[in-house]
Amino acid sequence: MTIDPRTLPKAELHIHIEGTFEPAQIFQFAQRNNVKLAYPNVAALEEAYKFTDLQSFLNLYYAAMAALRTERDFEELTIAYLQRAKAQGVRHAEIFFDPQAHLERGLSFDTVINGLWAALQRSSGEFGITTALIMCFLRDQPESSAMQTLELALPHRDKIIGVGLDSAELGNPPSKFQAVFDRARAAGFLTVAHAGEEGPPEYVWQALELLKVSRVDHGVRSMEDPLLVKHLAQTQIPLTVCPLSNVRLRVVDRMADHPLKRMMEAGLCCTVNSDDPAYFGGYVADNFSAVQQGLQLTGDDLMQLARNSFTSSFIDDLSKQHYLDEIDGVAAPT
Ligand code: HPA
Ligand code: ZN
Repeated sequence: MTIDPRTLPKAELHIHIEGTFEPAQIFQFAQRNNVKLAYPNVAALEEAYKFTDLQSFLNLYYAAMAALRTERDFEELTIAYLQRAKAQGVRHAEIFFDPQAHLERGLSFDTVINGLWAALQRSSGEFGITTALIMCFLRDQPESSAMQTLELALPHRDKIIGVGLDSAELGNPPSKFQAVFDRARAAGFLTVAHAGEEGPPEYVWQALELLKVSRVDHGVRSMEDPLLVKHLAQTQIPLTVCPLSNVRLRVVDRMADHPLKRMMEAGLCCTVNSDDPAYFGGYVADNFSAVQQGLQLTGDDLMQLARNSFTSSFIDDLSKQHYLDEIDGVAAPT
């Protein structure tokens, strides 16, 4: 059976909205906000998209955010993502945002959330995409900063489904954030965390046991720990894998070396996602195509990944069933 990755219905569960900031839009916003960028033009900026590891990407990712200043910027950034996501077969998106990266530049929490929210309210009507927001804490900042950010989010509890953990992983284990995640769960937030991208399997164990995450973001280095693989297979805790990201940030050398296929064969609940598509060369369907080609995944494998994206999402059971039926329709003979 041939499956077209672009029309396969899917949920995207690992997408940083700031990572959808395309070079042309960075310059457009910088110009209208009178922000001076370190690069003279789009071509010079794109020339810098040669990453050697996670930190080399993060440096550019945070630098580009200087161009985001107003509610309108956050709304237009999100609308542009939703437009592209629609063309990639996305039906539901659980979107990360990094408030601390904006607060430290002098923006208010309300500027960020109001801009994002204005776009998300238009999403299901204009793009046929349901959405949820996940607020990530920057793990290279102190826990006290995460705690203050959580306080700012409490008045917006109705707009934010969960909290996550991102930014520089090595040296910043999940254990550093146990108290703030405890408080977030007590306030009713679900939890996820980046773990096992550059960090060791021990960080995945900590995310599960200390932060009590519903999903692990990336988690590819779990494969180095057979006991962890067994545990993940038994519990079916989902992993939001980002193949193009892993190649671009040199977590693996080539797509042919990516562990996704081995993870699926080991019985793990994997999903495929785009992470920061403006930086890593493709949106979510492009990630499906890349693993289809690089790992020789079959049509059945792609359908399984699409099913997993919905079963691993935070939508209700009735909606899950609706999307699973839609996927089955793709496979049905016409
Ligand atoms: N890893 C960690 N932090 C991030 C990422 C990522 O892939 N993308 C944006 N922030
Ligand atoms: Zn990520």
